[in-house]
Amino acid sequence: MSDTAIVSGVGPEQGMGAQLVRRFAKRGLHVFAAGRTGASLDALVANIQRGGGRATAVIADATDELATIELFGQARAVGKIDLVVYNTGNNTPGRIEDMSAAFFENSWRVCCFGGFLYGREAVKYMKRDGGGTILFTGASASLRGRPNFGAFNSSKAALRCLAQAMAKEYGADGIHVGHVVIDGAIGGEKIRTRYPEYAAKLGEEGLMDIQAIVDAFEYLYQQPRRGWSFEVDVRTALENW
Ligand SMILES: NC(=O)c1ccc[n+]([C@@H]2O[C@H](COP(=O)([O-])OP(=O)(O)OC[C@H]3O[C@@H](n4cnc5c(N)ncnc54)[C@H](OP(=O)(O)O)[C@@H]3O)[C@@H](O)[C@H]2O)c1
Repeated sequence: MSDTAIVSGVGPEQGMGAQLVRRFAKRGLHVFAAGRTGASLDALVANIQRGGGRATAVIADATDELATIELFGQARAVGKIDLVVYNTGNNTPGRIEDMSAAFFENSWRVCCFGGFLYGREAVKYMKRDGGGTILFTGASASLRGRPNFGAFNSSKAALRCLAQAMAKEYGADGIHVGHVVIDGAIGGEKIRTRYPEYAAKLGEEGLMDIQAIVDAFEYLYQQPRRGWSFEVDVRTALENW
């Protein structure tokens, strides 16, 4: 039986989710890649399997409680859940006065509530199994409010606080909870295809190296119990912070 990992919010190949799945499969974990788009999940998993790794694609909305419970049950049937990464999160720009209640609530559901569902299920299994690691993907938004980003800022900040509470609540159970602040734009598929002008404005040096961010997750994952960090923040040399 091999240990398993669950990564949520897995999308295109050049995105955080997919690259996290790849990295942890390379470390020998059987990785459950959860997302909404079957085609990208299947392609990713097939690629990992061709290279001798173990991965399973699961179509699951991260805000769906039952789907999340089932996903964790499926992973535990394969092996101990050693790592969970809650990576789901969509930027939701907009001015407060123009924002519908449903839009604001959905931003919170995707960025924070789903993190609670994943965190709760992870803790249930990890307490029984003697520990594990739970990591959350943050953003610049996790640390500060900015005009036009009230919905995203508030939900990412809430996720960070949830992670901090969990780190303190479950540390003694051997559960390492960590948070990675991605402080800038990732040089991945999202920015390059959806916001090409923004990507061009930042230039290669202004876009974050996706593998360097994945390194931060792996760093937290491999820390020994007597030397845990809660948070790592990552940015380019050019970032104005
Ligand atoms: N991109 C950036 O520049 C940047 C900067 C700072 C922080 N971040 C953070 O990094 C994380 C990953 O961002 P990324 O841009 O690299 O994207 P990604 O990991 O490539 O993809 C995220 C995936 O999450 C999926 N998703 C969205 N809502 C979901 C839901 N309710 N349930 C399940 N899956 C869902 C999307 O699926 P669909 O394909 O179905 O829409 C998308 O493919 C996010 O937490 C984001 O806030 C990103």
